[in-house]
Amino acid sequence: MTQMDAAAYESWYETPRGRWIGAREVALVIRALQRQSGESLLDVGAGTGYFTRAVGASNGHADAATVAVDINSAWMQYAQQKSMQSAAMAYAVADARHLPFADAAFDLVMSITALCFIAEERRAIEEILRVVKRRLVIGLLNRHSLLWWQKGRNGGSGGYAGAHWHTASEVRALFHNLPVKNLKLMTAIHLPSASRCAKVLEATLPATMGTGAFMLVSVEPQQS
Ligand SMILES: C[S@@+](CC[C@H](N)C(=O)[O-])C[C@H]1O[C@@H](n2cnc3c(N)ncnc32)[C@H](O)[C@@H]1O
Repeated sequence: MTQMDAAAYESWYETPRGRWIGAREVALVIRALQRQSGESLLDVGAGTGYFTRAVGASNGHADAATVAVDINSAWMQYAQQKSMQSAAMAYAVADARHLPFADAAFDLVMSITALCFIAEERRAIEEILRVVKRRLVIGLLNRHSLLWWQKGRNGGSGGYAGAHWHTASEVRALFHNLPVKNLKLMTAIHLPSASRCAKVLEATLPATMGTGAFMLVSVEPQQS
């Protein structure tokens, strides 16, 4: 991903299209996490903290510990400033491939469209698995989607430049031989235009349909 200013990245989530896409993705992440009261949450590759804030404070979880890490210190600083009001949210600079946390330190871990920018994604997954106790949820870009055709081909454009777009079979292969169970895949954002028609269609399609641009995989550690 080309280096982008944090405020410029975050401002996309304030556009009508970005607001709709962001809200759909947040809803899917919340649904997949099934966070219980008091459960801690780690956000890996949190960027400007959009998902950290939206998911971390959802359903009355504002007081449960939520920690966000990212390799980009300027973005972490921006994210921290954005959530000054919430004492339960902590931000740190860290590499997803070497997380500075003890084994099983978090009940839940999420990582949203970050692994698509990490060459050693399997290493990052192993590391995330090491620190999670109950469930991990990873958001990726779906190669079999209309958005890939529009923004992902030939190296990608804008914020998608350099991203890897996964297929469902690539995602399953990523977890092959790792100590996980109950792998589930869901997708959202089938028509990325955010038109009225796209919104109506989106509301009628099941999350199990494999053509949404946002692909969410949820797995549980074997021993949980
Ligand atoms: C497209 S942004 C996603 C940010 C945020 N999760 C969101 O969805 O708005 C990808 C993020 O992955 C981060 N990233 C890339 N490589 C990383 C690594 N090795 N460790 C931690 N974060 C990384 C980038 O700095 C960037 O913030």
